[in-house]
Amino acid sequence: METETVELKEITGAAASVSEAMNTRHSIRRFDPRPVEQAKLDALFTTSLRAPSWKNSQPWQVHVVTGEKRSRLATLLTEAAIAGNLKPDIAWPAVYPADAKRRMFDLGMKIYGVAGIDRKDKAARDQFMVDNFKFFDAPVAVFITSNFEMNYYVGIDIGCYLQSVMLLAREHGLGTCPQAALSAAPEVVRAELGLAEEQKVLVGLSLGYPLAEPELNRFHTPREALADKVKFYS
Ligand SMILES: Cc1cc2nc3c(=O)[nH]c(=O)nc-3n(C[C@H](O)[C@H](O)[C@H](O)COP(=O)(O)O)c2cc1C
Repeated sequence: METETVELKEITGAAASVSEAMNTRHSIRRFDPRPVEQAKLDALFTTSLRAPSWKNSQPWQVHVVTGEKRSRLATLLTEAAIAGNLKPDIAWPAVYPADAKRRMFDLGMKIYGVAGIDRKDKAARDQFMVDNFKFFDAPVAVFITSNFEMNYYVGIDIGCYLQSVMLLAREHGLGTCPQAALSAAPEVVRAELGLAEEQKVLVGLSLGYPLAEPELNRFHTPREALADKVKFYS
């Protein structure tokens, strides 16, 4: 994997095929605040429910938040983040193999560069972290919760669901950022959305139209080579 170069790729318009959606999707972290048409949200989230799951158990509950409610949640989550009141329902992983650490370090090195942040500028780095909780200005905040006892297969199911939403968003000309950060203050999300304690907040997603100008939105993260990750047997 090349670590020195930063690939920039503009995402424009709608993807016409799954391959195009896969090849052109990347995380968007600077959104146009203009609302997404309700008809688009209806179509996207209706189709998203076709995602597969273990024995068709469909462990997800999906909360699509816009308008006043979204603004309130942005404020409350930001306050929680600044106060350090972050405790996800499902603990974030603490240990990674060495090759993953290398990729994560590489991401960190590059993302501050394309975001125009000096790595030594702690205030700017903190602000970038806090931007997560404002949904990067996206007009739509999505939270995925579940009342299932957590296990490995629920995780796989939620992953299938999340990627389905992100690819469908590309078909509708929309950008996304999947965010563990949005699972970090679950009490706030439950209180604001009126959810039962048993609904664990697993992950969130910012959704909306990408802004074209910021270099950060053109940041296309690298992937390992096919030969290093996929082996064909016959
Ligand atoms: C489960 C999950 C959680 C993530 N959490 C965050 C997050 O909290 N904040 C963020 O900016 N990006 C987050 N990301 C985005 C990843 O950093 C991103 O997917 C990865 O670097 C690959 O880049 P790409 O999405 O642009 O292809 C998350 C991605 C996934 C799949």
